[in-house]
Amino acid sequence: MGTTYRRIVLASRPTGWVGPENFRLETLPIPSPGPDEVLVRNHFLSLDPYMRGRMSERKSYAQPQQIGATMIGATVGEVVASHDPAFTVGSHVRGMLGWSEFGLVKGKALERIDTRKIPMSAYLGIVGMPGMTAWYGFHKILAPKAGETLVVSAASGAVGSVVGQLAKLAGLRAVGIAGGPEKCRYVTDELGFDACVDYRAAKDLEELGQTLRSAAPQGIDAHFENVGGDVLNAVMGLLNPFARVAICGLISDYNNEAGVVPRSAIRNPAVFLVARIKMQGFIVSDHLELWQEGLSDLGALLVAGKLKYRETVAEDLARAPEAFIGLLRGRNLGKQIVKLV
Ligand SMILES: NC(=O)c1ccc[n+]([C@@H]2O[C@H](COP(=O)([O-])OP(=O)(O)OC[C@H]3O[C@@H](n4cnc5c(N)ncnc54)[C@H](OP(=O)(O)O)[C@@H]3O)[C@@H](O)[C@H]2O)c1
Repeated sequence: MGTTYRRIVLASRPTGWVGPENFRLETLPIPSPGPDEVLVRNHFLSLDPYMRGRMSERKSYAQPQQIGATMIGATVGEVVASHDPAFTVGSHVRGMLGWSEFGLVKGKALERIDTRKIPMSAYLGIVGMPGMTAWYGFHKILAPKAGETLVVSAASGAVGSVVGQLAKLAGLRAVGIAGGPEKCRYVTDELGFDACVDYRAAKDLEELGQTLRSAAPQGIDAHFENVGGDVLNAVMGLLNPFARVAICGLISDYNNEAGVVPRSAIRNPAVFLVARIKMQGFIVSDHLELWQEGLSDLGALLVAGKLKYRETVAEDLARAPEAFIGLLRGRNLGKQIVKLV
C-alpha cells in the first residue's frame, strides 16, 4: 500500500451531455482513522444513472452534489485500518465512499458483506441497490399475477435484467425493450425473457408500437419503465384494462437539462381513463425497511442459480468518467462497475 490515493471530483456542472471536462482526478495522502473511524480500500465502484441528476442543480428528490467534492457512488472494498471493533482489518464492506480508491468513514456508515458465496462486485448490482430497485418495483408496485404480460425497458441493464427474470420466476410473460441486437440476444437467450424489442431498430414510434404488439400479443398488464420518451409512449398504447405502470427511471431525459417540455411527455393521457391505468413512481431509498427482505430474497435466488447477471467492467479509477458517459449512452451491458484494485 502506497502513501497516496486518487479520487475523482465534480469539476463543473454539465449542460446537456456529460463530458470528461466535468470531472477532475486528484491525488491525496492516505489518511489514518480517528476514533470510531474505518479506512477502506475500495475494490469496486458502482456507476449509476442517478449520478447524472446529482451533477446538475435542477430540482430533484436529492440535493445536488457540491463542485469540488468527491463524486457520489456506492463502493465495496476491504477494511485496511480500523478504530471500530465491529470492523476488523480484512473484512469486506459496502459503503457510499464515492469515486475514490480509499474512503475514511465512521463504522456506522458501513455494512459488512459476505463474499463467501456471492462475489464482492455483485453487492453493487444484483444484490445491491439496482437489484433492490427491481425487486421493489416488481413486487410492491406491479402486483404481478402468473399468466400476465410484463414489459421492462432498458431490459439488459442492471435493474431491467432483474425485473424480467423475476417476472419469469413468477410465471409471467416477460418482454424486454433494449438498444441493439446484442442486448436483445442477451435478454432472450441468456436471461430467458420470452421476447425482446430492439427500440433502436424502429424507424418511428408507430413501428416501435407495432413491433411491441407482436411481442406482447395479449397486451401489457404490467410495465416497468426505465427510459421514458418514445419507449413509454409505445407501451402506453398497448396497456390492458387495469394495467399497472411502475415509473422507475426516465433515462432518455437525463441529459435534457434545458427541456421545458420534457421528451417523456405522455402523448395519450386518455389511456389512464379508458383502461383505468395505475401509474406510480418510486425511489428505492424511501423503502429501506424492505431492503433486508429484498436483498436476502435476491441473494438466495442468485446462490440457487435462478438469477443471472453480467457486468461491464472499466479498469482503473481514471476510466470512470468515460465509463459513466458510456452508461448514459447505452454502451454498458448489465451492471456498469469500475475495478479499482
Ligand atoms: N427509482 C429508483 O429508485 C431507481 C433506482 C435505480 C435505478 N433507477 C433507474 O433505473 C433505470 C435503469 O438504471 P440501471 O442502473 O439499471 O442502468 P442500466 O440499465 O444498467 O444502464 C442504463 C441503460 O439505459 C439505456 N438508455 C440510455 N439512454 C437511453 C435513451 N436515450 N433511450 C433509451 N434507453 C436509454 C441504455 O440501454 P439501451 O441500450 O438498452 O437503451 C443503458 O444501457 C435508470 O433510469 C435509473 O435512473 C431508478
